[in-house]
Amino acid sequence: MLRAKILGTGSYAPQKVITNRDLAGIVETSDEWITSRTGIRERRVAVNETTTEMASKAGKAALKAAGVSPKDIDLIVVGTVTPEFTFPSTACFVQSTLGIKPGAAAFDVSAACSGFLYALDAAEKYLKTGAAKKALVIGVDAFSRLMDWTDRTTCVLFGDGAGAVVLSAEKGAKGILSSNVHSDGRRWEMLYARGVSQKNPFEDNPHDAPRPSPHLKMQGNETFKIAVRTMGSAINEAIENSGIKPDDITLLIPHQANERIINAAKDRLKLNDERVYTNLDRFGNTSAGSIPLALDEAVRGGRIKDNDIVLFVAFGGGLTWASAVVRW
Ligand code: ACO
Repeated sequence: MLRAKILGTGSYAPQKVITNRDLAGIVETSDEWITSRTGIRERRVAVNETTTEMASKAGKAALKAAGVSPKDIDLIVVGTVTPEFTFPSTACFVQSTLGIKPGAAAFDVSAACSGFLYALDAAEKYLKTGAAKKALVIGVDAFSRLMDWTDRTTCVLFGDGAGAVVLSAEKGAKGILSSNVHSDGRRWEMLYARGVSQKNPFEDNPHDAPRPSPHLKMQGNETFKIAVRTMGSAINEAIENSGIKPDDITLLIPHQANERIINAAKDRLKLNDERVYTNLDRFGNTSAGSIPLALDEAVRGGRIKDNDIVLFVAFGGGLTWASAVVRW
């Protein structure tokens, strides 16, 4: 049986650091409010940098860590909801930027904060069935471009960043043990950002009608409650489908949205701090970039070793939620 094994990881975050104090200079907020409600202290913002550039830097680092040539990649899947072009996909731009061979399959996946795990899930299916041999999977978002920077209820929560993994179809016990993705489109209004589109000349008052705001909108309180519930059920499903016990988990890498949501997941699994990876204090919520950025830090920091069991769990706009278990 073939499994999708992670050969290497990479990540990239923009240089520009925006602290809570910086934000207190542009909206009515405070370091104390943001830190105590979310755990976030600072975030990165892409200045004169595109989603493709962030994705490509993370992808290049993952290829290097994996020791895999771009010429050997036959599948690129990018999770993002902030591409700079409607089309071509960010995956196609990454393909040409990194010199990945022409003819490889390349596509984007839209699942907001669950984007990386959705992309990982899609790639896993290609690799398990033999439809691809080596895949580059990237999660990347630049939510700074979706923000209403006058809205203190949302602009303090997000940051920009990217992370990537190189996967290979291999026989053996190592690799993705289970991957689970779900959505509930009835709840789209919890969290969304409208695309900007032109009116066509056949509509009523094409030039006068007000345009809906393209900024991110979120019902924070309700999203919080749903996030705690769905992360819990996604964790249970991941454990059950991969045939492991909660005690087997070496490291939980949850989507980095809010420290209080992460603590709820940690308590549910009765994990101590050493078995949960967080970096949201330094990056905020980077949406699809969040899990692979944390994973890359954990790998490079020596937190994940051979045969360790790592559990990923995410939720986001859609609503979407997803989980995966990997034997390293
Ligand atoms: N600074 C100061 N005060 C603020 C701020 C701010 N930045 N933002 C809100 N407030 C005020 C509110 O106006 C409110 O004031 P009021 O009581 O006078 O009305 C008060 O603080 C409390 O606001 P709440 O919204 O109740 O605060 P809460 O404790 O719920 O925290 C938060 C808000 C952090 C947004 C929380 O609800 C949360 O984390 N939600 C989930 C976010 C999330 O995980 N999103 C999904 C992933 S993202 C994706 O998929 C793209």
